[in-house]
Amino acid sequence: MKIWGHRGAYSSAPENTLEGFKLAAQMGADGVELDVQLTKDGEVVVIHDETVDRTSNGQGWVKDFTLSEIKKLNFNKRGLTEPMFMEVPTLAEVLELLKSTGLTINIELKTGIIYYDGIESIALKVVEQYGMSDRIVWSSFNHYSIQKIKRLESSSRTALLCGGGILVTGEQCEKVGAEAIHPSVHMLRYPSLVEDCNKRGILIRPWTVTNDEELKLAESFGVDSVMVNQIDWAKDVLAYG
Ligand code: G3P
Ligand code: CA
Repeated sequence: MKIWGHRGAYSSAPENTLEGFKLAAQMGADGVELDVQLTKDGEVVVIHDETVDRTSNGQGWVKDFTLSEIKKLNFNKRGLTEPMFMEVPTLAEVLELLKSTGLTINIELKTGIIYYDGIESIALKVVEQYGMSDRIVWSSFNHYSIQKIKRLESSSRTALLCGGGILVTGEQCEKVGAEAIHPSVHMLRYPSLVEDCNKRGILIRPWTVTNDEELKLAESFGVDSVMVNQIDWAKDVLAYG
């Protein structure tokens, strides 16, 4: 079972920052999960929320900032780790950083609240420029985004997100050509979902696994990967029980 760092190394560094992704690689993660949105000038930036308010010292919608404007904000809002100033990374910067590692990169297209027209093709082009298509897993709660990725690049590895009131079946994954389902870890308590996906050969990668019981439950179901906030803890539990 592989370990993916949720939003980088969420428990140890500000989420979705280059510092967090670097730390995830140093901690020995097999992959990282990140979230993308589009700036006013059409740049793919790595940020979870549609606004910058929660994670930076600024305010406003990501879609209303140009890249140079959003780059001026400090995303090390709490200042608990060095350096004191951390900027929002572009997708290209994360790929550049992780290019020399073997990490899988799960790009979650945040197209559920705001639909960023064209984000799928723009993000695909960025990945192609780095020649890293085979290292990417595209996921989204928005099935249209996943269908679009598959239509634009049929060999793309994709997954449907499930949880938070949005239920997904193995059959739906098959229909959009998704190789995997990424369910909230709580969904593992519904054996029918696991059985259905296993039967169809759909890989299962739950998020966000935060305690020993959940980690062992995921392992007992033979899931492909787990997304965790604390990479070192997960590695220890899996190694030593
Ligand atoms: O991709 C899995 C997980 O990250 C989805 O939830 O809110 O953390 O993006 P969220
Ligand atoms: Ca996410």
